[in-house]
Amino acid sequence: MTSMPEVQVAAKVDPPLALLAELTHRCPLRCPYCSNPKELAGRSAELSTEAWLDVLAQAGRMGMLQVHLSGGEPTARRDLEALIAGARAAGLYTNLITSGLQLDRARLERLKQAGLDHVQLSVQDSEATGADRIAGLAGAHQRKLAIAPVIRAAGLPLTLNVVIHRHNIAHVPDLIALAETLDASRIEVAHAQYYGWGLDNRAALMPTRAQLEAATAHVTEARARLKGRLVIDYVLPDYYARRPKACMGGWARRFMVVAPDGQILPCHAATTIPDLSFPSVRATSLAEAWFHDPAFARFRGTDWMREPCRSCDRREIDWGGCRCQALALAGAADAVDPACALSPLHEKLVALAESESATAAPAFRYRGTGL
Ligand code: SF4
Ligand code: FES
Repeated sequence: MTSMPEVQVAAKVDPPLALLAELTHRCPLRCPYCSNPKELAGRSAELSTEAWLDVLAQAGRMGMLQVHLSGGEPTARRDLEALIAGARAAGLYTNLITSGLQLDRARLERLKQAGLDHVQLSVQDSEATGADRIAGLAGAHQRKLAIAPVIRAAGLPLTLNVVIHRHNIAHVPDLIALAETLDASRIEVAHAQYYGWGLDNRAALMPTRAQLEAATAHVTEARARLKGRLVIDYVLPDYYARRPKACMGGWARRFMVVAPDGQILPCHAATTIPDLSFPSVRATSLAEAWFHDPAFARFRGTDWMREPCRSCDRREIDWGGCRCQALALAGAADAVDPACALSPLHEKLVALAESESATAAPAFRYRGTGL
């Protein structure tokens, strides 16, 4: 791919801090809360090595600091070593977000040699039966636990990622203990987000408010006890919140996503918004997309907001929450995110969460593997 000329920087728009490079949608796991789109991009639609190297070089030239290499399962790309070397050459800090199932000592060494800086390893639960049931793959948990010491032995810092829901929420203390045992420096305890596959599985995943409060109390206690030894990041579930999170740090403010097929996006679910179309790296530079594409400008900042966001004193804190969730739940991407207590839909949402979590969990609808 030939490099495209860089564009004039639009006034008042800062470049993104980090690139989320979704290298592939292929994944051996089938987690029912997966944040990938329902329509997975197949292998034949994926960008070539050359195209990804060009994307990474552009990210470096734009002044981005980090690249998060994710998917799907990024180690399914045989050219991952070359891509990490390209990211390193572009001056980017490289973070690999992986299930660990396709890693071994030799490959980890090669990735480290290429310039890998950090690994985020996902686990589905603290014990194998539940973890393998969520992952939809027998034996996955043991293989993950086996690779964690190899990551540490390679001298790479380790973060444990775990998505929390009604089937594993009681194990939060055990998951934190597991992070300590595996010598992780950080654990990200994130409640499931309900869009895409997660929305399909909401009733199967939603915890009760009492379960949430117990988990939050455990996290608070562990944070104090493990201060200086283990960092615990905690992402609350929207449906029980009073105010939404600043999704992606605000639309097109901090992060840029490149999907496996080359679409350039402000968040991984942006393609669900029907009246927006997004450019591709096959025809548009990252800088052109970020600074000049109308879809990136559409929900940036606060000018697009309607009431109650428009006059709210949190509008530059949460940036109105999540546009994709507003679309999915309120039917309009410019509506106030129903996770906000000021949304007319909020009470309905809370009632829904309470009734779904109080009834027996339906069977999972597993994500496809995209293989
Ligand atoms: Fe955030 Fe809008 Fe709710 Fe205010 S009204 S807290 S800006 S979502
Ligand atoms: Fe798209 Fe939140 S996932 S704005």
